[in-house]
Amino acid sequence: MAIKRIGLLTAGGDAPGMNAAIRSVVRYAISHKLEVMGVLRGWWGLINEEIKPLDHRSVSNIINLGGTILKTARCPEFHTKEGQERAKKTIEKYSIDGLIVVGGNGTFEASHKFSEKYKIPCVGIAASIDNDVNGIEETIGADTAINTALFAIDNIRDTATSMERIFVIEVMGRESGYIALQVALAGGCEEVIIPERKYDLERICHEIVEGNLRGKISWIIVIAEGAGKSEDIAKKITEITTLETRAVILGHIQRGGRPTAFSRNLALRFGQAAVDCLLKGETGKAIGLTNGKIVAVDFATAIKKKELQVENLYNLVRILT
Ligand code: F6P
Repeated sequence: MAIKRIGLLTAGGDAPGMNAAIRSVVRYAISHKLEVMGVLRGWWGLINEEIKPLDHRSVSNIINLGGTILKTARCPEFHTKEGQERAKKTIEKYSIDGLIVVGGNGTFEASHKFSEKYKIPCVGIAASIDNDVNGIEETIGADTAINTALFAIDNIRDTATSMERIFVIEVMGRESGYIALQVALAGGCEEVIIPERKYDLERICHEIVEGNLRGKISWIIVIAEGAGKSEDIAKKITEITTLETRAVILGHIQRGGRPTAFSRNLALRFGQAAVDCLLKGETGKAIGLTNGKIVAVDFATAIKKKELQVENLYNLVRILT
């Protein structure tokens, strides 16, 4: 079936650059004489008929904004049969011929099931600060989140060095140590604790005490939220070493803010590729960047657990300490 009208939504955790992806899908689709309907609040908007047409002007001045003008949500209702039936009815009612969904692996899992079940053409655009979509090396937003976290860590380093303290800094990543590893390396941190790797706090404390005897007093330890709580680790370090240790949780600050040029340009290119995919009749795929090229990965592959290669980066963090 020829695609005339696209439904566009953003779902799951927002990622900086989603707005650039929206801009790209809308304007590129219009340049191909297609219409775009914006679905608000992700799957929730499909279930509840929260839909509005998006024209060329509606996406003006959003390229530099974090978040998503379409809003986003985590929507448990979409996992129910009733929710899906209602979403399908909305798609029919608004004569939507194909969906473009911007999100991460949770979004693609829902897209995969829904589009297969109801035979609705659907293409994903990989956007996640955790960069955890399997088969895709770079997702929209990860670069921005890393730079945001790095900015904070650089600031903390100033006070850590001046007051000669140990800091345990918690970054986002419920299941992935990607942000933690990247910022630990770029931030020149002494240690990084991630879900993909066992850690030995006794060993870390021993090194801190040894360093202390040599006159190295300030330490920055980065921990991914999926590997433990910064408060707990800081408390244990103080118990074992008797040294003053502070905990910082960077939290949702990493999800917002002005997207970097890299995140924006990925988003703009992914938007174009997603529309092209739909036009070519390629469906059930997630668009991302791998080996410097735009790729379209089957949803079935994209939703598998991404195995992060951590050893080389981890070792480099430690060697350069
Ligand atoms: O979007 C990914 C992510 O930021 C994870 O790193 C984090 O664990 C999670 O979302 C937090 O989600 P929420 O904002 O729904 O608590």
